[in-house]
Amino acid sequence: MSSTFRAPRGTFDLVPPRGEAVLAVRDAMAAPLRRAGYAYIETPAFEETALFVRGVGESTDVVTKEMYSFTTRGGDDVTLRPEGTAPVLRAILENNLHRGALPVKVWYSGSYYRYERPQRGRYRHFSQVGAEVVGTEDATVDAETIVLAVDAYRNLGLSSFRVLLNSLGSEESRPAYRAALQEYLRALDLDEETARRVELNPLRVLDDTRPQMQAALADAPLITGFLSGGDRAHHDKVRTLLTDAGVDFLDDPRLVRGLDYYTRTLFEFVHDGLGAQSAIGGGGRYDGLSESLGGPRLPGVGWALGVERTLLAMEAEGLGSPEPPGCAVFAVPLGEDAERRLFALVTELRRAGVSADIATGGRGLKGAMKAADRSGATFAVVVGDRDLADRVAQVKEMSTGEQFEVALDRLSDELVKRLSDAAS
Ligand code: HAM
Repeated sequence: MSSTFRAPRGTFDLVPPRGEAVLAVRDAMAAPLRRAGYAYIETPAFEETALFVRGVGESTDVVTKEMYSFTTRGGDDVTLRPEGTAPVLRAILENNLHRGALPVKVWYSGSYYRYERPQRGRYRHFSQVGAEVVGTEDATVDAETIVLAVDAYRNLGLSSFRVLLNSLGSEESRPAYRAALQEYLRALDLDEETARRVELNPLRVLDDTRPQMQAALADAPLITGFLSGGDRAHHDKVRTLLTDAGVDFLDDPRLVRGLDYYTRTLFEFVHDGLGAQSAIGGGGRYDGLSESLGGPRLPGVGWALGVERTLLAMEAEGLGSPEPPGCAVFAVPLGEDAERRLFALVTELRRAGVSADIATGGRGLKGAMKAADRSGATFAVVVGDRDLADRVAQVKEMSTGEQFEVALDRLSDELVKRLSDAAS
């Protein structure tokens, strides 16, 4: 009988063999960042609630509907982090990293929590790998982050993904655009909630996926026509550098994202094999976030890639999952004295960097050899009382079935040697 407990709705257990695939995805996302000088950073899984209200934005869905917020026994209002950018910027400011060499380049990997309606690719507990570059407005780093994400996806073998690119403009461009968009939207026949959004956050209305809204928005003014000279030059530089780096992108002047801190560059990675939750990653520039958290002006740009959605995208493309690491030597003791001897052997092999395992529970030879077979081991080592008396072990090469005797005091060296001969 299984237990009466279940993983909470919208969450899931990562159980073998899928764990290997998740580790491989995280590693592939981190590798290009580490080569580009990004340092690893970790922040707590929960933060003061106000950090997200101020950082992500009071009127966003994330803050109004999706946060896991609670008051602690001590009376503190905290929230399980729904995203990583505001916490990372808080940590940079708190630890004065911005007073050292700029830009600060960091990457992170962890769990995030959003109370969303669960569906395929949308969970209440999910994981991201993220990157942030803080302390420069230079468009070079916008392009750099996008290239590094594309390289991560490519390294995983993904090909059916697209890069959507937009600029939301800076404070130089946004007020005029916002006013023009509001004027257009106010003339539409809107439901109450949308009408409220027009006043609070009109750009988010562009994100409304309902077909009648998409039709009504067909002639809405686009940010492209409102970009200041500086914003346009910044955007053009990002586009040029991406093209030079061989990254195809689609200009999407209607791209807006659900977090309020974005300014200028905005991008999303979408995959065609995922259905509704097609965003496998996204990010952008957030030049005003530090100030909204009470810090100095500190421009930044970054992204977060969804680990689970990336894995779904790989499965949609039929990309095989990596195998769990095999075991090179499987030890089969027959009797307690042999167990002591082989336990020592397995420990010695592992310390020498060889993967090794041992049959436990006093299994008989037949069952233990089955376990050796399942382990995928290159060699099985069998020792019984007679072998101990003769100071030898019986070694079987699993692929050929060939058996030979090795002196116990030479066993570890002999196995290491044979394994390295086989590998070269
Ligand atoms: P985001 O677009 O909210 O951005 O999330 C990034 C990625 O996390 C999404 O593209 C998606 O793959 C994954 N994701 C988000 N929510 C869920 C969910 N409920 N279930 C499964 N996967 C999900 C951010 O979080 C920003 N902090 C990115 C950023 C970094 N912008 C600048 N720097």
